[in-house]
Amino acid sequence: MGKLFARLYDPIMKPLEKIKFNSIRRELLSHATGQVLEIGSGTGVNFPYYKHVDCVDAIEPNQQMIQQAKKNIASTNNVPITIYQATAEQLPFERNVFDSVVSTLVFCTIPDPLQALEEIRRVSKPGAPILFFEHVRMKQPLLAQAQDMLTPAWKNICDGCHLNRDIVSFLGQAGLQVECINPHYKGLFLMIKCTNPK
Ligand SMILES: C[S@@+](CC[C@H](N)C(=O)[O-])C[C@H]1O[C@@H](n2cnc3c(N)ncnc32)[C@H](O)[C@@H]1O
Repeated sequence: MGKLFARLYDPIMKPLEKIKFNSIRRELLSHATGQVLEIGSGTGVNFPYYKHVDCVDAIEPNQQMIQQAKKNIASTNNVPITIYQATAEQLPFERNVFDSVVSTLVFCTIPDPLQALEEIRRVSKPGAPILFFEHVRMKQPLLAQAQDMLTPAWKNICDGCHLNRDIVSFLGQAGLQVECINPHYKGLFLMIKCTNPK
């Protein structure tokens, strides 16, 4: 399933990117500076949006996604990008290395989100911006129930993606300082800016 998901990812995302996601990614990534860690970089959709950063270390567990992403590195803006095959729960980096961390559409899929957030805190510098664009469990009760019902089947089709993760509560549990939350599509998607308080 991971292989098929990797192959279909870019064609599925293209219309969504054109409608709105590209402007959200551009806005979010404009807050990244210095040495950036990108979590779950997939096919490298974010890579063209890194403009004023020193370098990007991207981690991604799916080998097929990495192969696609390596092709996309060619179309980026001279920012050095290195991709590591790794999971967010076990980051292959020393503590206090990164100036910023980026995660887009990843925390729905990570099997142990709290462990991943602890790792992000460990490897990022005190005060580092931690930037998220994620889909979440909606506030509206009927829609949230629909997300709960659809999640078991959806997980099988979309490589482990949960439609109903309450990601903001994980951020609180992990001790990240939430600076601002911008909802999109009636709160189905959130752009979240946090800092690592250390
Ligand atoms: C929906 S894709 C998002 C890709 C990209 N970030 C984007 O915005 O288009 C989710 C990605 O999370 C990755 N992923 C799954 N489990 C992960 C984990 N434990 N740690 C890091 N990334 C993971 C998947 O392989 C996939 O590339």
